[in-house]
Amino acid sequence: MIIRLDKYLADMGIGTRSEVKADIKKGKININGIVVKDANLKIDTDKDKVLYQGNPIVYEEFEYYMLNKPAGVVSATTDKNDKTVVDLITSKKKKDLFPVGRLDKDTEGLLIICNDGELCHNLLSPKKHIDKTYYVCLNDTLSKEAEDRVCKGVYIEKDVMSMPATLERITDDKVYLTIQEGKFHQVKKMFHGVGLEVTYLKRVSMGGLKLDERLKEGEFRPLTKEEIEYLKGVNHD
Ligand code: URA
Repeated sequence: MIIRLDKYLADMGIGTRSEVKADIKKGKININGIVVKDANLKIDTDKDKVLYQGNPIVYEEFEYYMLNKPAGVVSATTDKNDKTVVDLITSKKKKDLFPVGRLDKDTEGLLIICNDGELCHNLLSPKKHIDKTYYVCLNDTLSKEAEDRVCKGVYIEKDVMSMPATLERITDDKVYLTIQEGKFHQVKKMFHGVGLEVTYLKRVSMGGLKLDERLKEGEFRPLTKEEIEYLKGVNHD
């Protein structure tokens, strides 16, 4: 990829465009062994070796994070009233990060935050049938009959039936539910369809990627190379 030097540095979180321009003028940048003072210089991200104050700056087009979303934060990039999941990624370099899908404001758990539109599309496209597993607490006992209905399909709206799901019981009123859909309030509506209310909801895995249990609510970490490669390969047709 060919990119202007000032954009290269700003994209990698060195500073704003004007800050990095000032740094460039001050001679803080070395490219392939030569001090460079031209912010317009075109950099080949595959070949050129860029140093900032002696430290190598490797260009990465995409950033990928796993967030343990806390309740009270909205799944959006910006919001007038509430903190967003992107605001929580304090170490981000890129300004174009977004959440891969949505969790309700009161839902917790695994959310991938990245700037890779293709990966996002692959994980969210209904055609890809990506599994999403939720830990669900209910307001009352789930009967065997209600469990069967949730698994086979239940009306979540007038004329809209949920697709088959799998359910693992933990106790009478706590379950793991795995679904491949992601409609608005999907899990809450599925249980509502059998007369129950969800009192707590947490996503624990997506596409086979499990929430890292070391992440406390609100904490995040970059995805590993292996996790990124794994997600890119999930259900690719
Ligand atoms: N289903 C819901 O009802 N809410 C979520 O946040 C995710 C799935």
